[in-house]
Amino acid sequence: MEIRGKVAIVTGAGGAGSGRAIAQRLAREGASVAVSDVDERGGRETLRRVEASGGRVVFVRADVSVEADVSALIATAEKTFGSADILVNNAGPYYAEPLGHWLETVQANLLGTMYGTLHGIEAMRRRGGGAIVNIGSTSSLGHGRKHSAAPAYDAAKAGVIRLTTCLGWLRERENIRVNCLVPDWVATEEVKAYWDTLTPQQRREEGVPEVLTTVEEIADAVIELVTDETLAGRVMVWWSGQPRRLIPVGDLGYVALE
Ligand SMILES: NC(=O)c1ccc[n+]([C@@H]2O[C@H](COP(=O)([O-])OP(=O)(O)OC[C@H]3O[C@@H](n4cnc5c(N)ncnc54)[C@H](O)[C@@H]3O)[C@@H](O)[C@H]2O)c1
Repeated sequence: MEIRGKVAIVTGAGGAGSGRAIAQRLAREGASVAVSDVDERGGRETLRRVEASGGRVVFVRADVSVEADVSALIATAEKTFGSADILVNNAGPYYAEPLGHWLETVQANLLGTMYGTLHGIEAMRRRGGGAIVNIGSTSSLGHGRKHSAAPAYDAAKAGVIRLTTCLGWLRERENIRVNCLVPDWVATEEVKAYWDTLTPQQRREEGVPEVLTTVEEIADAVIELVTDETLAGRVMVWWSGQPRRLIPVGDLGYVALE
């Protein structure tokens, strides 16, 4: 898919994290962008930055855990720019509290992605096609870790991956491609601040990567998933410090059973 001239929507684009970098990159590639967040101040800052670099942009305050907010966001993109062709379901709050915030976490990370996907599909049908990129996390992969700081987050992100793989058929029927990017540790301010406190030995012991993926690299991967017409229902896993790779089609998920 050619990005120039298209209309893109990015949720959770008002922080200093991946969402803002993705919105800025899509605008640089020539898309009109609807940026949204619960954080109005941050959202307006993203709007200012995109405008300053000559992009066409609108900000919509939308809480992805509220279906009416998500449908209003997509409607605003269509009303303002004429269509909704690209949707990046990026908003995904993380609470490092093993038994806390489960419902908010699932509502935003999983239901928010579902609302975006359902309303996005409706809008893309009107246009004859489109591309949706969901954002997962490597924290939801496998079961080798001794503990998780955020079980509801991991469960929600596992759901986001499975939702994506179940929607590959939309390419043939509706010309809509749904794919998922699964990043490892991304160098957002908060993550970098924590990572900086660890010695190389602590990183090895804790299974923390030696390098962090940058938000610009995340934007690169999103652009690949949006533009590569061969990808539908695919999951791109990006362990930090390694090349990004796709889970093979037909993968059973658990290679060894006992
Ligand atoms: N940072 C990492 O290491 C990492 C790793 C793997 C996956 N991810 C995923 O990448 C995506 C972006 O995360 P980030 O680290 O850039 O986060 P971030 O905290 O920098 O940005 C997330 C944005 O989402 C917004 N937000 C939170 N709840 C919302 C809601 N209910 N509705 C709308 N907006 C909401 C926040 O205000 C914030 O601006 C998330 O889906 C996250 O799960 C991040």
